[in-house]
Amino acid sequence: MQLLDNPASPYCRKVKVLLRETGLVDRVELVETAGHPTDPNNAALAHNPLGKIPTLLRADGPSIYDSRVICRYLDTKSDTSLYPDGRLFDVLTIEATADGIMDAAVLMVYEARSRAEDKRDPAWVEAQWAKIVLALDVIEARWMSHLRGPLDMGQIAAACALGYLDFRHADRNWRASHEVLSDWYSEFAKRESMVATQPPAA
Ligand code: BEZ
Repeated sequence: MQLLDNPASPYCRKVKVLLRETGLVDRVELVETAGHPTDPNNAALAHNPLGKIPTLLRADGPSIYDSRVICRYLDTKSDTSLYPDGRLFDVLTIEATADGIMDAAVLMVYEARSRAEDKRDPAWVEAQWAKIVLALDVIEARWMSHLRGPLDMGQIAAACALGYLDFRHADRNWRASHEVLSDWYSEFAKRESMVATQPPAA
């Protein structure tokens, strides 16, 4: 299998952390894929009509996407269930919350990259950041005991979202107002799977 990947993408990082945590890392070749989803020359478009990464190319079936679908699929190929039946909807909700944090954080980056300074909308950017802060509040208020439990995809997704905030939005200092979550993340970030998948220097 091949994974269309970008080292800066937090969505791709979810998949790569899963591959390492499940021992599947040798089954998937990483293919670095640059390009904005709306670029007509974007290489991912040949395999995903949305032009997005991660996309997983399978030998025995059509390409699959997005990160949640890929992670569920790869989990079925491993002996280590990261989507355990007994807490499936908790895991999926934490993963959706983490992906929402990534969505807002990536939109903020795209706004700064693709719009001239005088065309930017600071209120819209702040609204994205406000979503992130609310989501962090909810994770800290509701999900810490889950995050401290046996490894699952909710934890991996949350850690990748927090890693992306450190990577692209360090100036916002999310850690100062979320110390409990920050302490959890500092420990989780020491896992081999997280160290090996760190984004490149910003
Ligand atoms: C980034 O450079 O921040 C980025 C790259 C690919 C996907 C998402 C974000």
